[in-house]
Amino acid sequence: MAISIQKFEEQGGRLKTDDIDFESFRTSPLPPDVLRCIGYMHDIEYQTVLYTRELLMMPAWKDPQFTAFLTLWNYEEYWHGNALGRVLAMHDRPAHDQRLADMRTFNNRYLFWSPAIFWLLGHGVRQFPAVHMTWGAINEWTANAAYNRLAAVADHPTLTELLHRIMRQEGRHAGYYASFAREMLEDSRRAQKVTSWFLRHQWAPVGNGDVPKIETSFTTAYLFGSGDGMELIDRIEDRIDALPGLKGLNLVRTGIANARAHVIEQEGFLPPPPARAGGLKKSLADDEAELNGLTPEELLARR
Ligand SMILES: [Fe+2]
Ligand SMILES: [Fe+2]
Repeated sequence: MAISIQKFEEQGGRLKTDDIDFESFRTSPLPPDVLRCIGYMHDIEYQTVLYTRELLMMPAWKDPQFTAFLTLWNYEEYWHGNALGRVLAMHDRPAHDQRLADMRTFNNRYLFWSPAIFWLLGHGVRQFPAVHMTWGAINEWTANAAYNRLAAVADHPTLTELLHRIMRQEGRHAGYYASFAREMLEDSRRAQKVTSWFLRHQWAPVGNGDVPKIETSFTTAYLFGSGDGMELIDRIEDRIDALPGLKGLNLVRTGIANARAHVIEQEGFLPPPPARAGGLKKSLADDEAELNGLTPEELLARR
């Protein structure tokens, strides 16, 4: 059964950060690759409100439960962006309005076509709510996994605490989306077919059109292109496979392989994360080889 908005409301709210020691980043700063990922996440969190503009083009705007969810969800995502902005600011990196003003110059959602497409899909495709709810669940699952992996690779106690708090909220968001997606997909074979088609043809890691593609590719490939990151993605694929009619899409793995190829094409080489989550099953060199599509021997030959 889908989760009620009352239940969602009771457990949520502004991210608690008053006891987070942001000053600790001054004495113990994060590495540049980790900060690059945080910059991407900051932008995506703050851009949620723009995605909402598109969702409100669908007929579901008439449903007070749906608009209540969008309001609460946006509020929580806003504070995720704000907290990540404080981490960037502690490293004297652009954050908050300064960074967002640039993003909005770039952002093509301000163009007419994106809300117009949502209007057309919302009014022309009866099963579109199932697509949007499934899409939302996948993006929240990947957000949760990205924070999980980033906390592990950064291995910084303050960041870990902050990201684990954000993760708990992302888990709630995913649960809400997934409960609706499952219900809608169970109800209709047609909804399964339409959702599967949209995911196979349109889905890409979150960030498309919101941030420069290379930033999405970098974060995605850096966090999930090797080792325990890949295991987190396996879990997401299992969850997608468990949704009615969506078995075997291999969606996120394909997105990550494309992201990895894009970074290598644009920047020449993809650095491995500095540490590994959980048990160290393979060496850092294995990570580096895996990320760059090389065998360990080929990697050695490059050195
Ligand atoms: Fe978030
Ligand atoms: Fe979220």
